[in-house]
Amino acid sequence: MIVFDHLTKRYGPLVAVDDLSFSVEPGKVTGFLGPNGAGKTTTLRMATALIRPDAGTVSFDGRPYAAIPQPGRHIGIALEPNAFHPGRTALNHLLMLAPYVGADKKRCEEVLGFVGLGDATGKRVGKFSLGMRGRLNLAAAILGDPEVLLLDEPVNGLDPEGIRWIRQFMRALAESGRTVLTSSHLLSEVQQTVDNVVIIAHGKLVHSGSLATLEAGNVPRTIVSTRQRDALISLAQFHHWRVSAGTEPHSFLIEGPSAGEIGAAAGASHIILDQLASQSSDLEAVFLHLTEGQGGMR
Ligand SMILES: Nc1ncnc2c1ncn2[C@@H]1O[C@H](COP(=O)(O)OP(=O)(O)OP(=O)(O)O)[C@@H](O)[C@H]1O
Ligand SMILES: [Mg+2]
Repeated sequence: MIVFDHLTKRYGPLVAVDDLSFSVEPGKVTGFLGPNGAGKTTTLRMATALIRPDAGTVSFDGRPYAAIPQPGRHIGIALEPNAFHPGRTALNHLLMLAPYVGADKKRCEEVLGFVGLGDATGKRVGKFSLGMRGRLNLAAAILGDPEVLLLDEPVNGLDPEGIRWIRQFMRALAESGRTVLTSSHLLSEVQQTVDNVVIIAHGKLVHSGSLATLEAGNVPRTIVSTRQRDALISLAQFHHWRVSAGTEPHSFLIEGPSAGEIGAAAGASHIILDQLASQSSDLEAVFLHLTEGQGGMR
């Protein structure tokens, strides 16, 4: 279990991470989400003692990162930007890290194979594509066979095949009991992969829970057009639906019921609908709704 407890980081007047508390369970993939500048990277850097918090703590099964001997054997990190020596080969890059995590050459070759770089072990990293660098970063993260993985925007730069691969990679790690925390500024990018989501905006927690709880908060929205304005409003009031004026004349936005329920209720009340269009509302809309006003670029 990773516990983020009242974590705060200030840069001058900016509160980049603001009293942030949440926990991350083992055996699950947790998406760490927020718009650009929300504080995701800063949080992950504090978790791994790369920067010091102004307040609060992060602990891994009760211990802070700095108190864990050979932390790379327990916590694998792939944070951006990736610092690779361009003249080094992929294998040499891992061999340089190996002593810190107790890995041998065989293990280095094994993880390169695992991330799909088996044919590129002798290639210089300077000649690697962005996607190959991402894979090498992941190879370095899993080198010490850690039980916790912290990944900062691992999908960046990957092609569709690479994205599918990394989804399977994260799922496999979680299914083997490991803890996977993966950041993204797009919910849709991780939606198929994650069990849980932690959403932040302006350094503050806005949602933490299972993906299902987020889906449960996804209220259907429907655009309805009718010339029987008063009858429609009475119907909405009767059913306790939220109704507001739409963008077109005679159009209304109804929040709560599904389009089917509205159609049936309107029919039963002899209200003629000229239009009945479901706006619903992928989870990305829920994410935007949660983060807008508080989130956005800073
Ligand atoms: N070293 C620093 N000095 C000053 N401000 C910083 C520093 N590092 C981060 N910030 C600011 O802190 C805020 C949070 O940045 P952070 O990189 O953690 O966001 P993020 O959620 O990772 O965003 P992105 O999705 O763009 O990667 C931003 O406003 C950023 O400009
Ligand atoms: Mg970031």
